[in-house]
Amino acid sequence: MDEASAMQYLASHGHDKTGNDVIFSWLARYQNAAAAGASAVNGTIGALLEDDGSLAINGVVDAALRTAPAAEFAAYAPLKGLPSFLDLAVSLALGDHRATLESLGLHTGATASPGGSGALYLAASNFAERGDAVLLRDRYWGPYAGFLRGCGLKSATYPLLPSANEPATAHLDLEAFSSSLDELAKTQQSVMTWLNDPAHNPTGLSLPAESRFALLNAFMESATRNEHVGHTLLLDAAYHLYADEPHGWAETIAEALDAGLPWPENMLVCFALSLSKSHTIYGLRTGALVYLHPEEASVQRLNDVMGVTGRQTWSAAPRVAQHVLSELHATEAGGQSWSEERDRLASLLSQRRERFLRACTQHGVNINPSHDGFFAWYECEDPVAVAEACAGQHVYLVPLTGGVRIGLCAVPTSQVERVAEALAVATGATQ
Ligand SMILES: Cc1ncc(COP(=O)(O)O)c(C=O)c1O
Repeated sequence: MDEASAMQYLASHGHDKTGNDVIFSWLARYQNAAAAGASAVNGTIGALLEDDGSLAINGVVDAALRTAPAAEFAAYAPLKGLPSFLDLAVSLALGDHRATLESLGLHTGATASPGGSGALYLAASNFAERGDAVLLRDRYWGPYAGFLRGCGLKSATYPLLPSANEPATAHLDLEAFSSSLDELAKTQQSVMTWLNDPAHNPTGLSLPAESRFALLNAFMESATRNEHVGHTLLLDAAYHLYADEPHGWAETIAEALDAGLPWPENMLVCFALSLSKSHTIYGLRTGALVYLHPEEASVQRLNDVMGVTGRQTWSAAPRVAQHVLSELHATEAGGQSWSEERDRLASLLSQRRERFLRACTQHGVNINPSHDGFFAWYECEDPVAVAEACAGQHVYLVPLTGGVRIGLCAVPTSQVERVAEALAVATGATQ
């Protein structure tokens, strides 16, 4: 009897949930090699590590958390989130462009969620009709598929990188994006696209300003052409505060409004905000769904919908970080001290990336464009074979669909050249 038929109490949709997370199984291989005394390099995990391999912690956030009153740890938060935190969430999503966007007539709202994952779940469960496909790039963070499937949704994809018709520096296949959008708008009542930008997981790609504008414009035009089809552009901002242009999307939206592009009523833009990485509080499960729309009533309605969805799923999001971070960012000095620590962590990432990309060039490794955030990406046909060949040199990476993810966030700065060398050997680039 196989395992599935043995578990006759499990509903059919529960049977689909199989397998261990691939990232954790490759991390275990690194750990076993290191424990056996090998000089092993860990490029597997998606958390930022210091060069000595310990978890990087924003000391200002940590110190502030430790002074929080007991009641802030113990009490429930309001179901929709602490008001001061919701205000902070909007500011973290929009940065200095917030005032401009509000003066241009946009209303903003937010609902607190358990991390960015909770925000993605809120969007999946409310912005697409069951059975619809959500539009993704063809390289995406693996859990997206589970969030969508769990909400009865499918996915459609377009290529990560441009075809020959678009300039390579656009880092966007606008034609493919637009035609996929058209297809979906013809057949569905709702169109939603998830875009992890800037600092895409798993590649580190960030769209340049022109591509952001072109994508937003295509989305607005589609919403205008298909006025009875709801359009939601969800920007997954899991790593944006480590990017060169952290608030590029807010700037692009402001530019579009400034240029007089009309915002269709059936269009919503939202941000799935995660404080896990930006404030190094992965385990405190703090994030928010932030939404922008020209009608205040729409934003009010979303507050209710998201609050009720949260209530029915996880109750309230955890309180303590909502309280502590809204207090910390409420003063200029607090915000400044957080950002100094954040800058230190960001420069760790950029040093590793620069050295890695340089070494890839030297060794002839054809690495994907990579700009910001935690990862880099080697696109290939047989990712498991490449990752195995790297593991054979005690460099541990993660094979995913279409390529190998290099967790620069975890690799000590002095070891990044070794990763490029291992890839060169694994892929025969040095032969
Ligand atoms: C692309 C992406 N989106 C969202 C998240 C959600 O993060 P969390 O739920 O830990 O805040 C992550 C975390 O790894 C991520 O990589």
